[in-house]
Amino acid sequence: MLSRGSNLEGESGELADSLQRRLAADPDRPQYHFLPKANWVNDPNGPIFWKGYYHLFYQYSSTIEPQGPKWWGHARSKDMVFWEHLPMALVPTPGGPDKDGCWSGSAFINGGLPTLIYTGVFPQVQCLATSDDGMTTWKKVSGNPVVGAPPTGLVVTGFRDPSIWREGDSWLMTVGSGFQRQGGAVLLYGSKDLARWDYLHPLCSAPPFERRDSAGSSPYEPVDAGDMWECPDFFPLGQKHVLMVSTQGRVHYLIGTYSDRKLQVETHGLIDGSGLHYAAKSFKDDRGRRILWGWVREARSAAAQNAAGWSGAISLPRVLSIEPEGALRMDPLPELARLHGHHHRDADLEVKGFIPAPQIQGSSLEIQLAMDLGDAKEGGISARRSPDAVEETTISYQAATHQLVLVTTRSSLSRDAGGGMYQGALKLKPGEPLRLTVFLDGSVVEVFANGRTCLTGRIYPTRSDSLGVGIFAKEGRARVKSLDAYEMKAISPNRFTA
Ligand code: FRU
Repeated sequence: MLSRGSNLEGESGELADSLQRRLAADPDRPQYHFLPKANWVNDPNGPIFWKGYYHLFYQYSSTIEPQGPKWWGHARSKDMVFWEHLPMALVPTPGGPDKDGCWSGSAFINGGLPTLIYTGVFPQVQCLATSDDGMTTWKKVSGNPVVGAPPTGLVVTGFRDPSIWREGDSWLMTVGSGFQRQGGAVLLYGSKDLARWDYLHPLCSAPPFERRDSAGSSPYEPVDAGDMWECPDFFPLGQKHVLMVSTQGRVHYLIGTYSDRKLQVETHGLIDGSGLHYAAKSFKDDRGRRILWGWVREARSAAAQNAAGWSGAISLPRVLSIEPEGALRMDPLPELARLHGHHHRDADLEVKGFIPAPQIQGSSLEIQLAMDLGDAKEGGISARRSPDAVEETTISYQAATHQLVLVTTRSSLSRDAGGGMYQGALKLKPGEPLRLTVFLDGSVVEVFANGRTCLTGRIYPTRSDSLGVGIFAKEGRARVKSLDAYEMKAISPNRFTA
């Protein structure tokens, strides 16, 4: 028997009416982020463009708990903004190598044939599936698992999340892993036929603790050498190569030079400072852009997630590029402007203390702020603010510490909400204004600052009037060059009209 969801009636994804009504009325549920119809989502898997559609797969579970058995959900889109749900792509096969779950992986086209590579559990092994009906249904290959164990002689802490590309006449594959007492590693494999794989060497790995501790200038230093590196994603970008790894709640990017099939790391940073944007996965789109997706985790309690009937979301797509100084640049996908509804603009305002923006209200907004900090020590946006400010979320820049700060500790009066204070390094150049783009979508907040620092938060305001927006500057005067706010339209699959 396949495991059946408590909320989904089988793979077709029909929802009980009562659950549909509950989800439709839920103010925390995002309206323009991609979500499954209900239940649990974690990692984005196998994003790919094929024959006019962007396909996105994702880790799905019909139980709302991190350890639930994982399936691959599937959706497609013409523009990466509006989505259409498709049947589940992968579900565990009883008695098969993925009997306990189909974990993260990638999609690729093999001589015209859509193919998925993913991790079957337990133990962790790598498996393939193909589709001969245009990505509607998927068949697991008879030779699974194609990699049935970690390399002989290596004691690894994990062995999962394959990613694949073509180099010359070979397929190359990375597998997320780690070495005991050392830290994360990305194992590199090669194959001529996808069926027989040879282990080559680590593409990149964290140096041993001993060396890390004494080598203050190690480029890896901030990259947690914890258990293992999950979800490796490796790709060329500009003149460089980028490796993203997810570990201990954060996604790190390592930028460097790829030679002899190894990555020599030159710079590094965080994809998101909050720890709520995880398991990032990218793909090259039909226009040559490198687009990144992530899992927006919950901050609320497990009990609150269960009561809601859903957990997690897929982040908005980010376009990646390399800044002239060599850091990673991240911008929201321009097509998201298709969601823009009513627009309000303010310009040239002096700010000292807090000024409300009474024409801007809502839980589904994109707000763009360009601000000269002047002599203010801190300046930014307050959102989802109740008239008496007992609930409020702030996004600001602190000049002295060069930090972008997202504070969600007062976003909700509920004890289940799990707020935090999240920070990301952001050094503004002399004369450079603070440029914030803030996406508010029910319980999801995504912040982009000057294209180079991102913070993702989760907020669960309890009051129906926690919808206000304002601008603030502390200990000095700042100037708002421009403030643009757009009401955002809902994308169809998330809203059920009960
Ligand atoms: C990352 C991760 C992956 C794994 C998947 C299981 O969030 O732990 O390493 O494949 O989730 O759902």
